[in-house]
Amino acid sequence: MRIDVVTIFPPLLAGAFEHSIIKRARDRGIVDIQIHDLRDHTDDRHRTVDDYPYGGGAGMVMKPEPWFRAVESLRDQGNPGRAILLTPQGKRLDQSLVQRLASEDRLIILCGRYEGVDERVREHLVDEEVSIGDYVLSGGEPAAVVLVDAVVRLQPGALGSAESTVEESFADGLLEYPQYTRPPEFRGWRVPDILLSGDHGAVERWRREQQIERTRQRRPDLLDESDDVSGATT
Ligand code: ADE
Repeated sequence: MRIDVVTIFPPLLAGAFEHSIIKRARDRGIVDIQIHDLRDHTDDRHRTVDDYPYGGGAGMVMKPEPWFRAVESLRDQGNPGRAILLTPQGKRLDQSLVQRLASEDRLIILCGRYEGVDERVREHLVDEEVSIGDYVLSGGEPAAVVLVDAVVRLQPGALGSAESTVEESFADGLLEYPQYTRPPEFRGWRVPDILLSGDHGAVERWRREQQIERTRQRRPDLLDESDDVSGATT
């Protein structure tokens, strides 16, 4: 998979993609991530990317020309990909949207800044607008890190077997079961006996019950959306 990210703060992103699972996926050639400076697509001495809003009002608006030049020059390289604008006005990211985006062979991610981006970018350049949640960031860069991480770890071969996505939260619409490691007792708090029992069937059932109970308590909205879990405890 190829991922291009366009930003006015390349260093903010570069470090985030140089560690852990993303780094390994890049090293293995599973994903090719390229970061591009939007200012390289300006044509004035000050490398201006924003301007005053028509109609007045507070704040600046990101100009359309650098965005069009940047994305069109990337598309000239072949595969047009899917252009995603990160903005609090976008569709809220969840695991099913991550899965859909992870199945694309190229994403071009646009990190908006300031109070907004000229509407023509939204209407005529991007394919989709995505928000990572109902809160406002100073810009799309932290959202790009979230999106890239979530998408890369779903690429075949990105995770080791120990990091399998099969049992993760949201993979089946439920939260994860509680996890413990040694010691069996810490400050008087004991690991549940069932996990020390060696009875794999019982452990499986206990974990499933914990998942359902935890989801019921913390995220009942997920239970409404998830598949039938009624057979899980049998
Ligand atoms: N830019 C600012 N806030 C954002 C959010 N919540 N999601 C994506 N991009 C953003």
